[in-house]
Amino acid sequence: MKRISVLIVDDINETRESVRRLLEFETDIEVIGEAGTGSEALRLSESLHPDIVLMDINMPDMNGIRATELLALRVPNCSVIMMSVQGEQDYLRSAMMAGAREYIVKPFTGSELTSTIARVYEIESRKREALGEQPELPAATDKTRMGQIISFFSTKGGVGKTSLATNLAVELARSGKYRVLLIDLNLQFGDVCVFLNLAPKRSIADLAQSGSLQYSDIKSFLLTHSSGLQVLAAPTRPEYADLVSVEQIEQILKEVQPYFDFIICDTVSRFEEISLLSLDLAEKIFLIAGMDVPALKNTKLSLETMEGLNYLDKISLILNRSGKEMGLERQDVEKALNIKVDFDIPSDGNTLLPALNQGIPFVIYHPQSKASEGIHIIAQTLTKQSVQPKEAPSAHDTGRKSFHRFRQLFGL
Ligand SMILES: Nc1ncnc2c1ncn2[C@@H]1O[C@H](COP(=O)(O)OP(=O)(O)OP(=O)(O)O)[C@@H](O)[C@H]1O
Ligand SMILES: [Mg+2]
Repeated sequence: MKRISVLIVDDINETRESVRRLLEFETDIEVIGEAGTGSEALRLSESLHPDIVLMDINMPDMNGIRATELLALRVPNCSVIMMSVQGEQDYLRSAMMAGAREYIVKPFTGSELTSTIARVYEIESRKREALGEQPELPAATDKTRMGQIISFFSTKGGVGKTSLATNLAVELARSGKYRVLLIDLNLQFGDVCVFLNLAPKRSIADLAQSGSLQYSDIKSFLLTHSSGLQVLAAPTRPEYADLVSVEQIEQILKEVQPYFDFIICDTVSRFEEISLLSLDLAEKIFLIAGMDVPALKNTKLSLETMEGLNYLDKISLILNRSGKEMGLERQDVEKALNIKVDFDIPSDGNTLLPALNQGIPFVIYHPQSKASEGIHIIAQTLTKQSVQPKEAPSAHDTGRKSFHRFRQLFGL
């Protein structure tokens, strides 16, 4: 999970030390620096970009109110919480006018401090999300390094592609270490925004119609989830799907690749031009299998087709809704499909359904649930496999080889 980064500003060493101690066992909060004066606070905020600055009022050289005023101009994404003592009410009013988000009166307890930090952080993240602002993402862009495209696929609908794709994307993004983009390639009935409770203010159809598919323009069509995940939403109505061509999707995928560590594609349960394009360009395919016999029959058929398309090496099989109550065991599935199951996600309606109905990814809603654990293991495996720098594909490379091969295979 992304930790809330905090800068402590106070001219008294012991106060800084005791505030640091109050936060030291908080797993969600990380103190990234300390400053003893207002000008030092400004300098450190400009270089460290903390989420929260805990600011004293009376300090030598530049007081906390002036520092807050300047911070609002120079580092607008960091939120200031004033630390005051009783009797500084007038100062506090000026501090709030200067741009402070909240204040806390000394002496305060650990839980008062952490709940104030969490509340301010949450409100500010939501505000940024509503404004569609880009979060400050880690890692500078290196044009020579291409992100990993990961496609989720299944041949039967409703087996959990979107549930797993969105939660894996959120799990990777909220670590704060990776730039992650989730693209909803279910152009007619994509529901990624529903899973993430995002208003689809801009979609891939708007992007396709905008006339430019340069990354500098694509950026403004991405939505931001509070985990830091970026989302390219599906069109808002099924009929708008036709506004997006497969060539445009190919260009978008290639264009975003240098700017993200992971580009996760949610697809439809059919071999068609767009899903095949995303499977072709993917470095990894997560094939989702359910534990019922019709789902397994279709998975077997799709594996045969995927073998013909030379995808087998990049497939990882995820067994979703696994569990003995399904009447089948993992070994039965492996035997039936003649392929190893790489990951399984247990059936967990008590977590997934309420999470979905509230638009909260289940990895955030209930991080300790078995399903979240399963997603965590997949994320760990992905991030452990070192992402080797890859050459950008040549302009002549086309991601649509498989569509033609697919037609050949079936004599079309
Ligand atoms: N492991 C699980 N345990 C319990 N419920 C699950 C699990 N995985 C998915 N579901 C539920 O199954 C339903 C369908 O899931 P989802 O929409 O992710 O499937 P899909 O493959 O994307 O469907 P479609 O093909 O329509 O796009 C959702 O209500 C989801 O909450
Ligand atoms: Mg889906």
